[in-house]
Amino acid sequence: MIAAADFNITKVERSKLNDINLENIPFGKYFTDHMLEVDYEDGEWKTVEIKPYQPLLMQPSMAAIHYGQAIFEGIKAYKGPDGGAYMFRPQDNFKRFNISAERMQMPQVPEDIFMEGMRTLIKLDSNWIPDKEDHSLYIRPFMFSTDEMIGVKPSDKYKFMIILSPTGPYYNTPMRIYVEEHYVRAAPGGVGYAKAAGNYGAAMYATAQAKKQGYDQVLWTDAFEHKYVQECGTMNVFFIIGNTAITPGLEQGTILAGVTRDSAIAVLKDMGFTVEERDLSINDIIDAYHAGVLYEVFGTGTAATISLIKELKYKDFSMKFDIDRWRTAPELKKRLNDIRYGKAADKYGWMYKI
Ligand code: COI
Repeated sequence: MIAAADFNITKVERSKLNDINLENIPFGKYFTDHMLEVDYEDGEWKTVEIKPYQPLLMQPSMAAIHYGQAIFEGIKAYKGPDGGAYMFRPQDNFKRFNISAERMQMPQVPEDIFMEGMRTLIKLDSNWIPDKEDHSLYIRPFMFSTDEMIGVKPSDKYKFMIILSPTGPYYNTPMRIYVEEHYVRAAPGGVGYAKAAGNYGAAMYATAQAKKQGYDQVLWTDAFEHKYVQECGTMNVFFIIGNTAITPGLEQGTILAGVTRDSAIAVLKDMGFTVEERDLSINDIIDAYHAGVLYEVFGTGTAATISLIKELKYKDFSMKFDIDRWRTAPELKKRLNDIRYGKAADKYGWMYKI
């Protein structure tokens, strides 16, 4: 058992906080004063170091930058009405992190390093949590292989780190989405369910093609028929069809088991929707659109929260939505935010006091 008392903590002499304007901060650009770093060597995790945020020194042969054994998580911390700091469902991210680690043949990170590490680091940098609607402290735990050897094999050495970034909304405006039917994000048996760094790098080419045509992100479809929808950009995706909320299911291992996705499912059920986690084809989406029962489409994610999709483009056909008339996604976002910012009772037990 590792406790915070065992951590080696070196504090900054002077905080950078005064140099940064926490109003209107872009996503992921600024980092707090401290970071957490711990090495895995000889089959065990060494001493946890919390120290001033600083560059890493590495050999050009470091395995992660050659073969991509690298995973990460995204969690948010909020300032509660009592002035205290709260994380949203961090245990779920901890569990998912180790699921990703297993898939990428990396060691498990012990719960006390991950959870106590986050708590201690956030306590130290708690002044950095923005006190503003739609803003939060984004927590980025990550791990990568550090063997200095370019043979292709699982590394013997790893580094686990946590950095913190005060942040505003990820997607600022409602999105135009291109339904992808050529490139593939994930196939059954692949790594789609893992939060592996390479999943994001591999998505960039198709996303860039869509952006050239004026779209913000792609909606991925299945690898075999390009018929069933999967994920959208860095988000899970929901379709409100009639009184049913439909989101792709997790069984095939091709999409990320989003924590915001899971939270949205619970809140939508509370709002009176039937929620179905299942295959949904683009043809069924188009049929619902023509029938006038495709009411809303939105993405969910830690970074993205709830992001409205105002257009879906499939082949030559564009489905356009009058988002000003939407009630469900805005209500879902409000209910989630009220829990996060401590304005509503946390009836699901999602908030974790730091
Ligand atoms: C998150 O929602 O935390 C993500 O991982 C998206 C990120 C790649 C910006």
